[in-house]
Amino acid sequence: MDYESSSWIWDGVYCHPHLFGGLMLTAALLGLSTSYLSGIGFSSFPYMFSDLGIFPAKRRENKKRVRVYMDGCFDLMHYGHANALRQAKALGDELVVGVVSDEEIIANKGPPVLSMEERLALVSGLKWVDEVIADAPYAITEQFMNSLFNEHKIDYIIHGDDPCLLPDGTDAYALAKKAGRYKQIKRTEGVSSTDIVGRILCTTKDNEVRDNHDGSSPLPADKGTQSHSSHVSQFLPTSRRIVQFSNGKGPGPNARVVYIDGAFDLFHAGHVEILRKAKQLGDFVLVGIHTDQIVSEQRGRYYPIMHLHERSLSVLACRYVDEVIIGAPWEVSRDVITTFNISLVVHGTVAERNSSSPGGSDPYAVPKAMGIFRMLDSPKDITTTSVTKRIIANHEAYTKRNAKKTQSEKKYYDEKVYVSGD
Ligand SMILES: *[C@@H]1O[C@H](CO)[C@@H](O)[C@H](O)[C@H]1NC(C)=O
Ligand SMILES: *[C@@H]1O[C@H](CO)[C@@H](O)[C@H](O)[C@H]1NC(C)=O
Repeated sequence: MDYESSSWIWDGVYCHPHLFGGLMLTAALLGLSTSYLSGIGFSSFPYMFSDLGIFPAKRRENKKRVRVYMDGCFDLMHYGHANALRQAKALGDELVVGVVSDEEIIANKGPPVLSMEERLALVSGLKWVDEVIADAPYAITEQFMNSLFNEHKIDYIIHGDDPCLLPDGTDAYALAKKAGRYKQIKRTEGVSSTDIVGRILCTTKDNEVRDNHDGSSPLPADKGTQSHSSHVSQFLPTSRRIVQFSNGKGPGPNARVVYIDGAFDLFHAGHVEILRKAKQLGDFVLVGIHTDQIVSEQRGRYYPIMHLHERSLSVLACRYVDEVIIGAPWEVSRDVITTFNISLVVHGTVAERNSSSPGGSDPYAVPKAMGIFRMLDSPKDITTTSVTKRIIANHEAYTKRNAKKTQSEKKYYDEKVYVSGD
């Protein structure tokens, strides 16, 4: 707190001379007459400069950028993680994210579903993240905290409002709090990795996922270990959340719009990579997200694992995405292409299904005929099915891990109280 207020005072004093310098320069540049300027009250000047983008630039140059740190396992990335990082970023200028090492996750929670590399790719793909630190410790030690402050120049450590206790029962953030370098954000409601693993384990109960090419037998149903409530989405989709995640900008004039569609279920490193490739081919990436019904028809009744709005937020959180269609049609019609002025339609080589479903029509027939369709080499062979298979292959460990976690999740929801903030 002390740190923050002194920096504000310093900032205010320092910026005044620049305000006048900026004023003269701006008036000259814009060719504004003095009579126009004298017609505006003084108090409106800073406002005007921030509109022109001149004042904040000047100010930022002189002000130390506030660096904030947040850590997490980020195993099975979801919009809850993304929203936490969005809130953390809002508490500073630069967000540094620590991704907990595989070993630490194994020791504290059980096996992670995604590898360090995959988790790093996911976190780096988020539009609010400026830097990542690989192999962060599960609990912040004094040594690590000092390296955050001294080497990584972190000003504040951020954590959610849910208590994080060390095995000995002490507060994991006590040190940072004592140093006055701790800030809290509101925990995002609606989803957790535990919840997603629960949804996936649920699909095995009716042997819905059985295309195990490795010859392993279908899984036995193990009813009763998971309470059904753990699979019901607690997500409350509000327009405000969508606005917060959105870039809020359309394609500029003459922009080349690239379209890519799909389920984008269980947003993973493969999605980030293909979206990055799509972005390289144009100025504006528009992502069509298929409806729950379409995904279900294509993949089976337990899919999608994540609902349309959840999938839309995960895609919107990706730094390579400019806009999404929440509930895109299966077929890329001439109308879709015209409506959004699409220059290029792309599709990854590693996808869940062949683009032409058996017996069905090719959804890309129109862009193909127009000569604006391109297959993109998927750099990673990870798919939603391969992620679910990892969980299913290791279902005993995850069921155990989840049972433990479900308890604390339930406790959290039972004791949850209203917290203001967004
Ligand atoms: C439509 O996209 C093309 C690029 O493919 C661009 O040249 C053109 O200006 C766009 N049209 C409008 C009205 O922005
Ligand atoms: C479609 O699926 C079949 C069977 O899995 C496979 O042999 C074929 O190569 C696939 N075609 C494309 C274009 O991916």
